[in-house]
Amino acid sequence: MKTVVVTGASRGLGLELARAYIDDRVKEEKYAPRWRVVAVHRQHTDVIDGPEGFERTRGIDVSKADASDALGIVLAKHGPVDVLINNAAVCIGRECAVGNVDYRAWTRSFETNVFGAMRVLEAALPHLARDAVVVNVSGRMGSIGRVMAGLGASSATTQDVVYRTTKAALNMMTVCAAAQFKAKDETKDVKVVAVDPGWMNTDMGRRGGTVTTPAPPLEPEDSAAGIVALIAGLKPEDSGKFLNWRGEELPW
Ligand SMILES: NC(=O)c1ccc[n+]([C@@H]2O[C@H](COP(=O)([O-])OP(=O)(O)OC[C@H]3O[C@@H](n4cnc5c(N)ncnc54)[C@H](OP(=O)(O)O)[C@@H]3O)[C@@H](O)[C@H]2O)c1
Repeated sequence: MKTVVVTGASRGLGLELARAYIDDRVKEEKYAPRWRVVAVHRQHTDVIDGPEGFERTRGIDVSKADASDALGIVLAKHGPVDVLINNAAVCIGRECAVGNVDYRAWTRSFETNVFGAMRVLEAALPHLARDAVVVNVSGRMGSIGRVMAGLGASSATTQDVVYRTTKAALNMMTVCAAAQFKAKDETKDVKVVAVDPGWMNTDMGRRGGTVTTPAPPLEPEDSAAGIVALIAGLKPEDSGKFLNWRGEELPW
């Protein structure tokens, strides 16, 4: 049995990723025979009841300094981690632009989206399988190349500076981790990628209900299915790439 760890599994994409791995689709031979899913939440949820191979881990707030220790204790019980999905994130302070920055929102965003992802990776490090896959769920809003090209979704390119900078930092963290792992014999087969899941119909995608038209075009279960397939098909040379949920490369 292989093990996948998903953070932010209480709702949205994280919940659908956890579901996808316990769903029959993933038990097809082309992916893997069976998965143990370690769904890491901050809060209680009853959305998934415990089918075989499903472990729920509550009370881990990735923005807190003790998250690494708490998660490390959990992971030590489960054996090698084959897939780690760093999905938990916040998207706050959206109105922030230069001249109008909410530093509390920016700090909280970095604590969750960047430090949180690193804490989870550090907690998992001693438990990673030799050929593990680490997915940092990023977003095209973190693409410097897209902003430089004048491409933005719903906001002007100078807005959303808080969220954009966290995802750009997460992308750099991805590249640093990929390079570090490649350089060491014991971790050279570990693959690390940043993945944009697309604009999804989740709390975050709907901006907490404030976006109704146009509606986010993608359901989180479809994005999750794409990401699961992408993970299964990753090659060694893909480590360090920024991909979308369909597996297409994005500009940094
Ligand atoms: N939605 C989009 O259109 C979109 C687009 C591009 C990228 N993304 C990325 O995709 C990922 C999932 O987004 P989503 O749309 O599913 O978001 P969501 O519906 O807002 O869910 C966010 C998840 O992260 C968890 N979380 C937030 N802060 C946490 C913390 N400090 N500790 C532990 N868990 C925490 C939440 O847990 P609680 O339930 O406890 O709050 C929740 O499970 C994120 O990385 C996001 O940046 C989303």
